[in-house]
Amino acid sequence: MSSSETSQNPAAGGDSVTMDKIVALCKRRGFIFQSSEIYGGLASTYDYGHYGVLLKNNVKAEWRRAVVQERDDVVLLDAAILMHPKTWEASGHLEGFSDPLVQCLGDCKKRFRHDHLVEALEAEGKPTDHVVCPNCGGELSEPRQFNLMFETNMGPVKEEGSTIYLRPETAQGIFVNFKNVMQFARKKLPMGIAQIGKSFRNEITPGNFIFRTREFEQMEIEYFCAPDDAATKHEEWMAARMQWYVDLGIRPDHLMLRAHGDDELSHYSSATSDIEYLFPMGWSELEGIANRGNFDLTQHAKFSGEKLEYMDPQTNERFMPHVIEPSAGADRGTLAFMVDSYDEEEVEGRERVMLRLHPRLAPVKAAVLPLVNKDGQPEKARALYEELRPLMQAEFDTGGSIGKRYRRQDEIGTPWGITIDHQTMEDDTVTLRDRDSLDQSRLPIAEVAGELARRLAAPWQSPKLS
Ligand code: GLY
Repeated sequence: MSSSETSQNPAAGGDSVTMDKIVALCKRRGFIFQSSEIYGGLASTYDYGHYGVLLKNNVKAEWRRAVVQERDDVVLLDAAILMHPKTWEASGHLEGFSDPLVQCLGDCKKRFRHDHLVEALEAEGKPTDHVVCPNCGGELSEPRQFNLMFETNMGPVKEEGSTIYLRPETAQGIFVNFKNVMQFARKKLPMGIAQIGKSFRNEITPGNFIFRTREFEQMEIEYFCAPDDAATKHEEWMAARMQWYVDLGIRPDHLMLRAHGDDELSHYSSATSDIEYLFPMGWSELEGIANRGNFDLTQHAKFSGEKLEYMDPQTNERFMPHVIEPSAGADRGTLAFMVDSYDEEEVEGRERVMLRLHPRLAPVKAAVLPLVNKDGQPEKARALYEELRPLMQAEFDTGGSIGKRYRRQDEIGTPWGITIDHQTMEDDTVTLRDRDSLDQSRLPIAEVAGELARRLAAPWQSPKLS
């Protein structure tokens, strides 16, 4: 790679992005694979490869940093996926966690969510009194409520009372542990409990790659407060969570906050606003921020017989805490960060595809690249790589032309490349290349680790905004 590698279109918008391009990049670079591919795949189920795991782990780590590490009022929990079945009676999921299912009675026999079909017709200004199959035009069955919880059995015999469920939300693990956590957390209200974990929903119509899958990972906070504080805390959490996405590089005009209408509210919620992101398929939910009132604790107190009230140590007043719940999808977040950072430009007559990810989210922070695979350069490069890798995720790559190696690192979003060349062998300086500006600066090899640490800690703004 010559130092004349210059961007022809440094701020090429993410507008060239499509879901097909993201899916292709994820497969090409080993971020995400179809689950059980050798058996033909399992619909809407995905496996994360090396770079996908690194990226999603970084998303989760940044969430943990923002909502736990940088606050005084939130503690962590990791509850089991399997819970006592009474949990789901108390929470209302057994009774009310369902979607209206219709099936085509015509040729195609496909299944749909009735409410989604009605919404699509409304969006097109078409009548909704006689909804037909959008695929073949056939008549549809009457809608019937379909419960979204996956059932399984506990123990070796499938018998009455052995049915349990894969949790459809991590939240209930927090509510049933409220008393335990309050005993040990040495915190007063308002305080929150944060949890990251897998949840499962037998969606009628999953889709859009990792946007809606039947197995997914949630990042949820249940923030407990006095009833009178709930409205204010709801506002505060909405602002804090919007800012988190912006701080990590999502363009603000690709985010919006949308309040649910009364007909959309979940059975437990008195008010919910969604943070929506402008995905390639349109505005869609990234995170829901609900005011769950005291619904869940009241229900669990009733069903378990435990006292779950809180006593204010100052006033000795007892009350059932109210709850604000910022509930984010780790997979959706990962997808949004990839979509928003995806970029294409032409450099020296060749297309360059890259993820302009925030450096803290980037799967790999630095790639150490000897210009040629001889003359002592690989050994020097390897020594630098060994120095960097205890500090950050780094790669050492000797394979192929330098241009090809840069392209590969650009596609996985590596913000910095360090090239060892013949001059390094003379004066111990290296070239540091910046993914976004394509600037190449020369610095002593001994200063690389410090310079990268400084850049990783510095405030960052998406180059698509400049
Ligand atoms: N806990 C909220 C949700 O899973 O949507």
